Amino acid sequence: MATSVIEQKQTPFEMVGGAAVVRQVVERFYALMESDAAYAALRMLHAEDLAPMRASLAGFLNAWLGGPRDWFAEHPGVCVMSAHAKMPIDQETADQWIDAMRRAVAEAPINPGLGARMVEALSGMAQAMAGRPASGG
Ligand code: HEM
Repeated sequence: MATSVIEQKQTPFEMVGGAAVVRQVVERFYALMESDAAYAALRMLHAEDLAPMRASLAGFLNAWLGGPRDWFAEHPGVCVMSAHAKMPIDQETADQWIDAMRRAVAEAPINPGLGARMVEALSGMAQAMAGRPASGG
């Protein structure tokens, strides 16, 4: 019997809809951060111009999801966790980050189950960033 099994080995990057959808999430995330007073403390940690952050977070997420790894080429040796170690991230700002990201993902055309798994994984990173005391150095 002839069988034709099409194995679908898609990366999460492909499953979310690629760079355009990642960019949509990131744009919405920073738009929420800029417009909603609920994220004021988070906004205050960031530089006035969020354009470099929009590009960097989108690039990081592309690579993190298994897509193009340009971000790592552009940031040789940078660990995103260590990059936050000296930032004064506390539970409040971590919660704001997670909440804005959850909303941005929910509004994007991403499968809800996949979106929930993404947010869960990102929340774990944010929680770890908040649990690490600022080194002050
Ligand atoms: C725990 C809550 C978080 C806070 C409060 C926070 C805050 C910040 C701040 C203040 C910056 C520097 C922005 C600037 O210079 O204007 C930054 C950079 C960045 N963050 Fe976060 N962040 C958080 C969580 C995360 C998570 C979970 C990720 C990974 C998905 C992430 C990815 C990045 C990236 C890629 C950059 C840019 C690094 C670069 O281009 O050098 N952040 N973050």
